[in-house]
Amino acid sequence: MGEVKKHDTPKVDQLKTGPWPSFVDDIYSYSEKHKKQACFDIMGQMELSYTNRETHWKHGGIVGVFGYGGGVIGRYSDQQEKFPAIWAFHTIRVHHTAGKWYHTSALKKLCDMWDSRGSGIVNFHGSTGDIILLGTVTDQLEPIFFDLTHQLHWDLGGSGSNLRSPACCVGKSRCEWALIDVQELDYELTMAFQDELHRPAFPYKFKFKFSGCPLDCVAAVARADMSFIGTWRDEIRIDQEAVRAYVRGELKPNAGAFSDRDWGPFDIKKEVIDLCPTKCMYWDENEQKLYINNSECNRCMHCIAVMPEALRPGQDTGIAILIGAKAPILEGAQLSTLIVPFMKVEPPYDELKDFIYKAWDYWMENGKNRERIGELIQRIGLNKFITEVMGLTPIPQHVRVPRDNPYIFWKEEEVEGGWTRDVAEFRKRHPA
Ligand code: HEM
Ligand code: HEM
Ligand code: SF4
Ligand code: SF4
Repeated sequence: MGEVKKHDTPKVDQLKTGPWPSFVDDIYSYSEKHKKQACFDIMGQMELSYTNRETHWKHGGIVGVFGYGGGVIGRYSDQQEKFPAIWAFHTIRVHHTAGKWYHTSALKKLCDMWDSRGSGIVNFHGSTGDIILLGTVTDQLEPIFFDLTHQLHWDLGGSGSNLRSPACCVGKSRCEWALIDVQELDYELTMAFQDELHRPAFPYKFKFKFSGCPLDCVAAVARADMSFIGTWRDEIRIDQEAVRAYVRGELKPNAGAFSDRDWGPFDIKKEVIDLCPTKCMYWDENEQKLYINNSECNRCMHCIAVMPEALRPGQDTGIAILIGAKAPILEGAQLSTLIVPFMKVEPPYDELKDFIYKAWDYWMENGKNRERIGELIQRIGLNKFITEVMGLTPIPQHVRVPRDNPYIFWKEEEVEGGWTRDVAEFRKRHPA
């Protein structure tokens, strides 16, 4: 490799100081080692952006691989003469594994490929979940895709108006609260909907996320159009002796999560009973026994998280399905709203796939251009979405509170006499 041209980057260099791992240090030490002009040019352009306080990427960029309509985010520098090695700096989304477990042999292969075909810079991982390969030129896209598919047996992730790469929490792989096998579910649905992921057919983007329990470690309720969250419908399992061990101070509350500060000795009343959102717990001091009125429990996980060795979720497990989360643009931010309080899920997940197709079929026909499903629900109304689109019966759990305005639509067939009225008839009883 020839000589590289380095740029002066005094502002960027300040970010080498301080205790947090410095991305500047990382990129510079990598680019020194590999003599990567693209990395030096990136830092040069960043310095310029810090000085001008504006981005130096041109608007948009449409690149990709044959057969697919997404997976690559094209971008071009608007300072191509100053920074020729990043004239193009496309980003490739590579589909991550469910739960993000990797073997070093796979990562090494990926790095070897990216060292030779790209900038060497990555993002582990993008917010949606993908492995992000940051920066390469157009000519390298097909060779990269060939290497990924033929050597690593990895595929691209999603981008555009399609199903994006689904993601899940670590689930049963190392969490005792996982109520469903989110990794398997994530994998199975990802494979089932490959076509929807690679070739955009939707009015806008659509995301799946799977959390094994209501603690929602993958933030499904905020970051996925369809949020799948593990839950249970029987009783919380109580090991009374372990509860007493917490009370006696032999076990650390929250598995020691707060041990960096002195919060005083564990007080079960203050830290569990009084914090239960539904006030359905009772600690009998005399009996030294914990009672839970499970019919009032809303499965918030608080008591279980405080006393993980004493309390375990129930064993009749399934998922809750919530729909509609999105960021503010256009109509305001939304968290997903509850549509199905409980569904049993087992491979091959046919009931779940039918449910998904039902929502998609309607949204694909009726969604406006660049309208997220959450906005479609806002537009047509939750009632219509639940009843007419999904074919479900409305239940009190579908709302937090009933409506407080009286602007209620009735269907004509629900109203005796219908809508057709004769004003002359009315005038006979009520002269003008
Ligand atoms: C002043 C208030 C807020 C600001 C300035 C703000 C700003 C942002 C920005 C800049 C992004 C990144 C957009 C992108 O990458 O395309 C974002 C993403 C997002 N925001 Fe906000 N936001 C605000 C409030 C909220 C609220 C209240 C919610 C939810 C109730 C929310 C939910 C989200 C979600 C779900 C994403 C997408 C995250 C992802 O894709 O991983 N935001 N927000
Ligand atoms: C027992 C009979 C009625 C009661 C108790 C009643 C009560 C009310 C109340 C509480 C408001 C809301 C006021 C506000 O929040 O600012 C209102 C608004 C209004 N009412 Fe009535 N009303 C009655 C009959 C009528 C009738 C007979 C008419 C017309 C023929 C009428 C026309 C209106 C209009 C035009 C408004 C304003 C609506 C709006 O701002 O969008 N009301 N009424
Ligand atoms: S969401 Fe629940 S099951 Fe998944 S990792 Fe977090 S605590 Fe465990
Ligand atoms: S899970 Fe939450 S609502 Fe249920 S008993 Fe525990 S603290 Fe109360």
